[in-house]
Amino acid sequence: PHQPSEQEFRDIAKVIPYFPFKGIPRFYDIAGFLSKPEVFQKIVDIFVARYGGMEIDGVAGMDARGFVLGPPIALALKKPFIMIRKKGKMPNCIESPPYSCEYGKRDGMCLQRDAVKSGDRILVIDDLVATGGTLSAGIQCVKMLGGIVVECACVVELKMFIDPEEGSGLPNRTKMFEQ
Ligand code: PRP
Ligand code: MG
Repeated sequence: PHQPSEQEFRDIAKVIPYFPFKGIPRFYDIAGFLSKPEVFQKIVDIFVARYGGMEIDGVAGMDARGFVLGPPIALALKKPFIMIRKKGKMPNCIESPPYSCEYGKRDGMCLQRDAVKSGDRILVIDDLVATGGTLSAGIQCVKMLGGIVVECACVVELKMFIDPEEGSGLPNRTKMFEQ
């Protein structure tokens, strides 16, 4: 992973305390880099440098903020962009089971049946990984259609959830890596 400098860190995300509710100490708002084209470009370049040489058939983004980051990466790699949406948003979909994330319980994610073919190698993009529940649901969707998840990649990783003392998020992260 790319380790940002102090300045890069400040450029990447606006950090808003206690949003969307008191139990969340830091909310990372990607409007931080969206408002700075040179930083946004640098982020895309880092992803492209990593995945440019890999065998990939498509780039999938997680609804909603993965839809902001995923398309410029897909375009730069000259690969199709695939939407993994929140349940109920598209017809003719497969659906992951409900999942839990940093903010609580969520309905599943969904993926249109013709978006991924059996054996397709898919890169899954999101803005941030906290518990890993959202990415786990995305991985499940790709696998339900016979796709292979090459890697999952985000701009921000909340490391606090790796600490077993913190508890709540760890099962999701474990599940994500097992998948
Ligand atoms: C946020 C964020 C990640 C997810 C990370 O999505 O964009 O997708 O939480 O949390 P997790 O690792 O615990 O699953 P959210 O659905 O809250 O908002 P969005 O629709 O703006 O992407
Ligand atoms: Mg999200």
